[in-house]
Amino acid sequence: MSEPVEIWEISFDEAGAVDWQLLDPRETAAADAFIHAEDRYRYGVIHTALRLRLSELLGIAAEAVPIVVGAHGRPFVAGRAAEIDFNLSHSRRTGLIAISKAGTVGVDVEDRDATADYSEMIDTIFEQHEAACLHRLEKSVRNDLFLRGWTRKEAVAKAVGTGFLLDPKLFQVPLDDGGSWSVSVRSPMSRRLALIDLSSDARAAAVAGVALPTRPRVRRFHFAQTLRSRAASTR
Ligand SMILES: CC(C)(COP(=O)(O)OP(=O)(O)OC[C@H]1O[C@@H](n2cnc3c(N)ncnc32)[C@H](O)[C@@H]1OP(=O)(O)O)[C@@H](O)C(=O)NCCC(=O)NCCS
Repeated sequence: MSEPVEIWEISFDEAGAVDWQLLDPRETAAADAFIHAEDRYRYGVIHTALRLRLSELLGIAAEAVPIVVGAHGRPFVAGRAAEIDFNLSHSRRTGLIAISKAGTVGVDVEDRDATADYSEMIDTIFEQHEAACLHRLEKSVRNDLFLRGWTRKEAVAKAVGTGFLLDPKLFQVPLDDGGSWSVSVRSPMSRRLALIDLSSDARAAAVAGVALPTRPRVRRFHFAQTLRSRAASTR
């Protein structure tokens, strides 16, 4: 792995067919539990992509990468967790995968929705000062910073490993429109994490973790092409 932290973006609209044989029984059951076919499909795409990339990095067949679920539902590579960490997030349109050889990593993505109004959710996610700042803003700016703040908090909570079992009001994130920062999280243990905005016009997103580069490259994962090359090389 040339970079200590890799970030991959997948567009579900352009992904193509999933090779379901690459998933393990736990993943297949999780995919089959979705009510909507599109959710099952998105799960299949992102978990297949994760396996394909981990396979290259670890030198293990994609279907044999031992991914297990630990405390609070956080998945990791069994027996190699000290060497490699990963995290993923999926919105309706986009999947993001972060893989790190430098330590814990968390990622989150949310689609932008010009028709949404997030005002009523502000006080459940943001602490007093953050919430006051968001409430003062004009709607389109408030929506933008709400989503950026939300993805930043969730990326931190996922890097810590608790997800939102960690009360997002217990730590602050910067609420401006882009950049990279260092944030402190006191619970469940004291941690200092790098936090980087990865937002674009179509989505808000953030990555948090240790030893992140200041400007990580977000690379497009060419799903169909990667599966085709794999099939050709195993023929
Ligand atoms: C789990 C949680 C982070 C998912 O967030 P979300 O916005 O719905 O979904 P995202 O697409 O951003 O992320 C989902 C991915 O995060 C990962 N994840 C799950 N639990 C995680 C955790 N505790 N920490 C970090 N990552 C986690 C998984 O890979 C999951 O995708 P998968 O189910 O396809 O494997 C969020 O629901 C949460 O904070 N829940 C509270 C913790 C919880 O209930 N854990 C389950 C107990 S068994």
